[in-house]
Amino acid sequence: MKPFLSGVLLLILFALAAPVPAATVASPNSVLAVKFELRDGAPYYSVQRFGEAVIELSRLGLDLADEPSLAEDLELLDQRKRNVDETWTQPWGATAEVRNHFNELTVDLGRDGKRLVSIVFRAFDEGVGFRYQIVANAEKDERRVVNERSQFALTGDHHAWWTGAYLPNRYEYLYREGPVSAIWKAVTPLTMKTDQGLYLSFHEAALLDYSEMTLQHVGNNVLQADLVPWSDGSKVRTQGAFVTPWRTLQVTDTAARLIETADIFLNLNEPNTLDDVSWIETGKYVGIWWELHIRKSTWASGGAHGATTENTKRYIDFAAEHGFDGVLVEGWNLGWDGNWIKNADQFDFTTPYPDYDIDALARYAEKKGVRLIGHHETSGGIENYERQLEDAMAFMQAHGVRNIKTGYVKENGRIRRHENGELKLEWQHGQYMVDHMQRVLEVAAEHRIGINTHEPVKDTGLRRTWPNWLTREGQRGQEYNAWSEGNGPEHTTILPFTRMLSGPMDFTPGIFDLGSEEARSERNIPTTLAKQLALYVVIYSPLQMAADLPENYEARPDAFQFIKDVPADWQFTRALDGEIGEFVVIARKDRNSDDWYLGAITDERGRHLRAPLGFLDPGTIYTAEIYRDGPNAHWDDNPEDIRIESRRVNASDVLELRLAPGGGTALRLTPVGEQP
Ligand code: NOJ
Repeated sequence: MKPFLSGVLLLILFALAAPVPAATVASPNSVLAVKFELRDGAPYYSVQRFGEAVIELSRLGLDLADEPSLAEDLELLDQRKRNVDETWTQPWGATAEVRNHFNELTVDLGRDGKRLVSIVFRAFDEGVGFRYQIVANAEKDERRVVNERSQFALTGDHHAWWTGAYLPNRYEYLYREGPVSAIWKAVTPLTMKTDQGLYLSFHEAALLDYSEMTLQHVGNNVLQADLVPWSDGSKVRTQGAFVTPWRTLQVTDTAARLIETADIFLNLNEPNTLDDVSWIETGKYVGIWWELHIRKSTWASGGAHGATTENTKRYIDFAAEHGFDGVLVEGWNLGWDGNWIKNADQFDFTTPYPDYDIDALARYAEKKGVRLIGHHETSGGIENYERQLEDAMAFMQAHGVRNIKTGYVKENGRIRRHENGELKLEWQHGQYMVDHMQRVLEVAAEHRIGINTHEPVKDTGLRRTWPNWLTREGQRGQEYNAWSEGNGPEHTTILPFTRMLSGPMDFTPGIFDLGSEEARSERNIPTTLAKQLALYVVIYSPLQMAADLPENYEARPDAFQFIKDVPADWQFTRALDGEIGEFVVIARKDRNSDDWYLGAITDERGRHLRAPLGFLDPGTIYTAEIYRDGPNAHWDDNPEDIRIESRRVNASDVLELRLAPGGGTALRLTPVGEQP
């Protein structure tokens, strides 16, 4: 062989034999492992569970406008590992203490020996997160992400529960159920079940100064990150060095474990940045709200105006009498007359309607030991709201308000913004809105105010860093049962495994008027009364509303007692059982007492479930106050049939729960003594 040819052959052989640069990190108990590989200069990863693929070889990388690619022609420059096992305490939450236990791998990638980007992988036993850390580019001040290449290559056409992205009503859609191949673009958390019986849920953590990630199905069971764009098509506008949110995957053996491992989103956020959190108030509230949605009164001024001084006093009296912390008042400020969704710029956040004497009401509420809850409906008029933001928060603070419900009712993609005098229309979940919500949160914190966002950007665990972001809507809540075809009995049995994984939801449970002629002819509330009670345990929110009218609670003091008792802040949460879209059983321990609560709900099918009470303290006897469906209860034709009874139980008991079709059971378990 000629020397030249043999040289070429040697080179080829060497290239074939050269190992693909790779690195692997296993989770603390070697349940999951993430493998990073650089193939022909392109970054990839895969995820294995007990050695079997959960995510096949999947692309990674980013493209920035007018900058060298961060997805191709890269070299692996360095890699390092570390492990963390720490436990931290939440000021409030579904659990008081959170364990953060993972192994981490960081790979430094670059070109010509110069680092351009690092990818950080964290392997937990039941989840994985990865994010990009992008190095500053001395030649570029303004930077634009034009594409993120992160993919999740699934091992099959799994069965998914999902809602579409970029739809007019934002996140507020009933779930679709079916193969991943039917997805076009889905919002996250996107949850699925494999043929092998594994549960997977995809989401993101720490969505900050970036645009939201939706997941696009691009064929062959591959999901591709799709960042919600700005109106000019760019995905993210930023400067200097930056980090992306974490892309996350939960992997569990049971549906219930998805709920118990959702603290991965908190763990992937930075610790609390607010020095003092003593002013943050969780709690339960009532308010001028349901009466608006069932059209008994109006947001607009005039004869039917809901937010009058007199009506608000009635709610304050009711709240004080029954131990509620707050009274929400909607329609209190100028701007609601006419088409308020269209006239977003007319909202005035410091001028009440003349029939709403906020000074007197603030004094009255204080005297009664109740707080007014503020309401800032913006109708997506961001510029109008931001102009007033500082004054609006100061105004509320001056009136003793500790929590404000904000709202952004506007068709998705119609958020108006001006740039150099030109009108731009933005999506509800792009970076513009992510940044806006952050500004609101920070100004609110300066005024010691907590936020409950409706029509929000989805939760990604930022409440760890800013614990004044208490709760949000972000799916179809109770209001849909007032004026639409209704949510259907199944909806609340899907939420815990999908939307609720991301964080608390202001669903506003507790409708008691289910069976009256008016309720049956004008509304679609697909539930039994016992299920409405169970939702206080199942659907976690640190601000929990008793949504119905005071008179409907006064008519049912027996069932109302549960809402009065149930807390909104928890020491522990245990998801005992459940299947997505079928049923769920959750137990939670009160943060401020030794009481446990249990909520079980079902879809349109009746069920007989067994709930072992092994979570109770073994040496203790408890009284169980049981609120269960009556023998004839049925969501469709007999929703108010409820039985309330009490018995002694202990940790070795197994409760038999009979849930009527569309029904539920709610339990309060109070320690009454030691076992003999
Ligand atoms: C939609 C919110 O979800 C609802 O709770 C509120 O009453 C209306 N917007 C008006 O702000």
